[in-house]
Amino acid sequence: MRLFYALWPDVRVREHLAQAAAALQLAGAARRVPCDNFHVTLAFIGEVAASQLPVLRRIGGAQRAPGCTITFDACAYWPEPQVVVAVARENPAALTELSTILHQSLRLGGAAPHSERAPPPLRAHVTLARKVAQAPVLQALSPIQWDVLSFSLVSSDTRGAQSVYTVVDTWPLLYEKPPP
Ligand code: 2AM
Repeated sequence: MRLFYALWPDVRVREHLAQAAAALQLAGAARRVPCDNFHVTLAFIGEVAASQLPVLRRIGGAQRAPGCTITFDACAYWPEPQVVVAVARENPAALTELSTILHQSLRLGGAAPHSERAPPPLRAHVTLARKVAQAPVLQALSPIQWDVLSFSLVSSDTRGAQSVYTVVDTWPLLYEKPPP
């Protein structure tokens, strides 16, 4: 199984991201990511045996991270992976910490086949288009606020033209109750 921990948007956020993707002026082989596939990767795990699932579920369920709000406020072209992404100029500290702890837990749990080294700090982004060979002209992005209430373990099937993602498990993030 090919797995990763990620944030999945609600319908409102997905629609805003879809509008941003629709506004992209793409050429050649570039293609938009289907809006059902929009996500923020927190920790990429990679190919693992199904027998690792209990460990990965335990790691997810053990997290006690606070919820937060991400504001996606720009589009960017990343030439090396050839993608256009929606980015948050400010990464919420809670999310960076969750990503770091997930990576640490994967290494400690021996469930990080992808990398033995600590990855660079999270750059929260949603990939809107792939196979973008040349820098497109990018429009300004009206800020999209995403209230992050939970995170998920997701499997990806990359055999088709577009990846098919399936949420395996989801865990809530912690929110303080407002005073009565
Ligand atoms: P993305 O969030 O930038 O699109 C599932 O495959 C997700 O994991 C993808 O959406 C992708 O990033 C991310 N991913 C895929 N391969 C990766 C790798 N080798 N290292 C880090 N992240 C990867």
